[in-house]
Amino acid sequence: MYPQKIKSPPPGSAAGPHPRRLRTLGLETSCDETAVAVYEGEAGLLAHRVYTQTDLHEIWGGVVPELASRDHVRRLLPMIRALLAEAGLAAADVDGVAYTAGPGLIGALLVGATVGRCLAYAWGVPALGIHHLEGHLLAARLEADVPPFPYLALLVSGGHTMLVDVRGVGDYRVLGESLDDAAGEAFDKTAKLLGLGYPGGPRLAALAETGRPGAYRLPRPMLDRPGFDFSFSGLKTAVLLALRAAGADPAAPADLARAFEDAVVETLATKAGRALAATGRTTLVVAGGVGANLRLRARLAEVAAAQGARTAYPRAEFCTDNAAMIALAGHERLAAGERAGLAVVARARWPLAELKPPGA
Ligand code: KG4
Ligand code: ZN
Repeated sequence: MYPQKIKSPPPGSAAGPHPRRLRTLGLETSCDETAVAVYEGEAGLLAHRVYTQTDLHEIWGGVVPELASRDHVRRLLPMIRALLAEAGLAAADVDGVAYTAGPGLIGALLVGATVGRCLAYAWGVPALGIHHLEGHLLAARLEADVPPFPYLALLVSGGHTMLVDVRGVGDYRVLGESLDDAAGEAFDKTAKLLGLGYPGGPRLAALAETGRPGAYRLPRPMLDRPGFDFSFSGLKTAVLLALRAAGADPAAPADLARAFEDAVVETLATKAGRALAATGRTTLVVAGGVGANLRLRARLAEVAAAQGARTAYPRAEFCTDNAAMIALAGHERLAAGERAGLAVVARARWPLAELKPPGA
């Protein structure tokens, strides 16, 4: 093992870059998006790029891990070069690297982790492995109207459904989560049943617009139970059974899409409302791809207003996987003086509850 070269003393110290001048390169490769970004304390986000591998996986009906890893290998370094050129930066202008260390597909994670750790070593700057969900939880803070801590976060993505009390960077209390399928996963699987292809969430939402509300009534899973956990896997079975029973009825797919969407939206919104009431938080931050769903947005706004709270969203491109949120999370931790060793860190599983505030 070689000693780590340190180009600069910890940021904020007399000779190092002030936290406001600190520039952090963020890398995200946990699933099927290759993403890069550079964030500066004072100016905020300087540039970001996302490449989505949807075309690569579409014919397989879902993400193929090995194909995802290989594509990250092909794209990551050219994307970093293009990013730095776009931001007008040289490698020497980067003060730290933040890469997604987990949770996610292990091969995909290893690409970003290895590239991030090695670049940082070559450049003589610190590198940190960032929790992907911490990125999502903080993404709304990339916007001009920064939601102040503490806030309640509803994270609804293809991989996760969680209600989290966000008290500060690294200070997260998970109030509830899905016991089986994530909300986005339920959308995607149900869309597949309805013959809509992959990724099905937005297609199902579009079909639901043409469905008749109330034509079918599906269960509202877990709403009769206390606590903030969710369960969505039973819904797709209910859709399958109803679809079979409907036979050749041409209206059934759209009506069932509407009934499915209504069931998921009502479940998420009701539990989020209960969590607002229980915590007394006045901001509900919504993150993750399912946050793009317009019916969900409308219901969450109503539920929040009923509790005297407001909703806040990152812009659409920061709701889904991106590296701007990883660069921001890395910036917060590096600026607070957090440092890690030379190990390349990649964890397929990583409970959010293990995170600590920087310096704790
Ligand atoms: O956050 P994200 O990129 O997921 C993960 O990487 O885990 O979000 C993708 C998920 C997919 O499951 C997709 O079907 C869903 O978000 N999604 C939607 C909508 N747009 C995207 N689900 C429902 N309605 C939408 N409009
Ligand atoms: Zn994600």
